[in-house]
Amino acid sequence: MRRNIFIAIALGMSIPAIAWGGTIANTKHDLSSTSTASIKSTTQGDTCVFCHVSHNGQPASFRPLWSHSLTTQNLTWAPTTTVRGTTLPTSMASAQLAGSRACMSCHDGTVALGDLLNKPLDATVAGPNVTAGKLTGGINLLNPATMQTNHPLGIAKPAAVTGFTAFKTVPTTSAVNYDSQGLVQCDSCHNPHDNTFGTFLKINPAGGAICFTCHDV
Ligand code: HEC
Ligand code: HEC
Ligand code: HEC
Ligand code: HEC
Repeated sequence: MRRNIFIAIALGMSIPAIAWGGTIANTKHDLSSTSTASIKSTTQGDTCVFCHVSHNGQPASFRPLWSHSLTTQNLTWAPTTTVRGTTLPTSMASAQLAGSRACMSCHDGTVALGDLLNKPLDATVAGPNVTAGKLTGGINLLNPATMQTNHPLGIAKPAAVTGFTAFKTVPTTSAVNYDSQGLVQCDSCHNPHDNTFGTFLKINPAGGAICFTCHDV
């Protein structure tokens, strides 16, 4: 009896520790079998393993200890430059897109959500808008053939500040920011762990706060 109480207390005390991942638990990025998300695994109970692994992570990713098999689907932009004339990168194997490639490996619909680099960890994922384990519909599927419907990726702050709009120098302390290569990537604006502000945005988007971090209009 005393032992059971001890175990109950030990389990109770461990709950806050589990909740530390915190804001990812039961969000759309919690694909574990116990998640309340509508898209989730029937076989894999670990939340983190869909993106990270402790050993032998993905060497071609700029994202830490990356576990998910990477997409090879290139991007098509039409026009092929921004309005300022900057050429948009298309090759998924390029260093320029390495950060966004991690996200597109689930969001472009070509790689199964449970296709992990470390094959023994592979997982079956099912739910609405998922066919053969891949994301195949809904607004969260980003079509790589029509990337012009999305904010530019893999490009730097323009050197010239004149033009239609100006670009701000973003303080290194800003959550919304260019990546370590100085390029815009998905996680310039999104924090895949934290859904506090909805759609995994890094800060409250009210008043255009995300956009005004880089743009001065
Ligand atoms: C849907 C994909 C995804 C899932 C699931 C995920 N992560 Fe991440 N994680 C990322 C990405 C992408 C980055 C890189 C973020 C960046 O560099 O801006 C990252 C970065 C990290 C980092 C390094 C950055 C830091 O803040 O120190 C740690 C540690 C981490 N994740 C832990 C976890 C843990 C623990 C879990 C499970 C509770 C988890 N992640 C689940 C995508 C994910
Ligand atoms: C392991 C697969 C996986 C990876 C990697 C992944 N996502 Fe997701 N993401 C999903 C799934 C599944 C959904 C839910 C789709 C649905 O419900 O239609 C989702 C939903 C989202 C949503 C919508 C959330 C909402 O509230 O509607 C955003 C935003 C998002 N992801 C951004 C990202 C970004 C940014 C990255 C990279 C940092 C990323 N995702 C990496 C699987 C992934
Ligand atoms: C410049 C900032 C920015 C970048 C870069 C960015 N997003 Fe978003 N994303 C947003 C904002 C803001 C929203 C909220 C709703 C909206 O404006 O469409 C959003 C919404 C989403 C959604 C929800 C579906 C929708 O259309 O609303 C998904 C999924 C998503 N982003 C994934 C990604 C992925 C994957 C990448 C990289 C390939 C990425 N985002 C790059 C700012 C960004
Ligand atoms: C991390 C910095 C950053 C953030 C945050 C950001 N942008 Fe941008 N934005 C850029 C860069 C860099 C360019 C491309 C500059 C160039 O053309 O060389 C760009 C280009 C654009 C363009 C022109 C696209 C084209 O094809 O010419 C629009 C419109 C735009 N951003 C809107 C937004 C909106 C709306 C938001 C908020 C949701 C936002 N941006 C957030 C950095 C950012």
